Amino acid sequence: MTLLEKIDLCKKNFLKDKSALDTSPSSIDLLKIKYLSRKGEVARLFSSLNSVSNEEKPSLGKALNKLKLSILQNITDLEDSLDGPSIVDDNDIDYTLPGNPYYNGSVHPINQLIDEIKDIFLKIGFSIASGKEIDTDFFNFEALNIPEYHPARDMQDTFYLKNDMLLRTHTSASQIHYMLENNPPVRIISPGKVYRNEDISVRSYCLFHQIEGLFVDKNVSFSELKGTLDYFARQIFGNSVKTRFRPSYFPFTEPSAEMDIYWGLNSESDYRITKGTGWLEVLGCGMVNPEVFKSVQYDPDVWRGYAFGLGIERLAMLKYGIEDIRIFFDGDIRFLEQFK
Ligand code: DAH
Repeated sequence: MTLLEKIDLCKKNFLKDKSALDTSPSSIDLLKIKYLSRKGEVARLFSSLNSVSNEEKPSLGKALNKLKLSILQNITDLEDSLDGPSIVDDNDIDYTLPGNPYYNGSVHPINQLIDEIKDIFLKIGFSIASGKEIDTDFFNFEALNIPEYHPARDMQDTFYLKNDMLLRTHTSASQIHYMLENNPPVRIISPGKVYRNEDISVRSYCLFHQIEGLFVDKNVSFSELKGTLDYFARQIFGNSVKTRFRPSYFPFTEPSAEMDIYWGLNSESDYRITKGTGWLEVLGCGMVNPEVFKSVQYDPDVWRGYAFGLGIERLAMLKYGIEDIRIFFDGDIRFLEQFK
């Protein structure tokens, strides 16, 4: 028997079965299983398509699809006929009853802020790079000019894992990953989680988020770094924001600075947040130390760069007036719902 004849026969058999049906739900189910299940009659015919010639395939495929659709339609009609009259008496419905509540999730405020910051930097030509949360001593310290026994290691209490692995203490480690895999010029930001073995309090948590920025090119100057970060502060806090740069120290940048924004001293809580100065530190930055370029085989006589790193939770606390960092990690719906 040819496949076309088999298709015809299947159709006839189906109609015969259908007319012999007692239209109870279970017998409709059985009919459905016999013809439309994964190992049913129709599926069997489909699998014998493999053994027909290429010329015949399109027309037989069409015939088979038609068969499948018509059986499906027949069965849907049968099921519908069981459902009873489809018009509901309007008087039976109480339109004043409350509906079923529908709970939508939302993006976590920290991720919202990360998205906002990504957009700000994407617009001026930065792209996004990723790093690793579990990393090695080399990426987190060594290549960033923080050798063993360097006192700067004490600035960041580290969670050490087995086999020389650790939880990264800062996203600066992403700089090294990126530079080892890509040739200059570089223009990236890299957001992510970082971990520190610190006492948990209102101001510090063992886990938080940072965004790292790295720009490498031939004639990069500190004023470009300032310009970029000023632009960033205006995008986040509005055009009237005031910034200042204070000299600081980081092993991976030279010179290094911290950027403060003026928060003001209008209320007692302003006084508390800024320790009475009105100024708030928001990020660390500087010109990439030539030692860092050496560890990724970039020629320090040719390339120059700037880098910066900022803590997202801190920024979010300022932006939204939140006083306890731990609330970001509690998963309390009442808090999170305010950021929908
Ligand atoms: N990694 C520093 C920290 O976590 C922040 C930082 C400072 C990043 C200066 C930088 C930088 O890229 O240039 O405290």
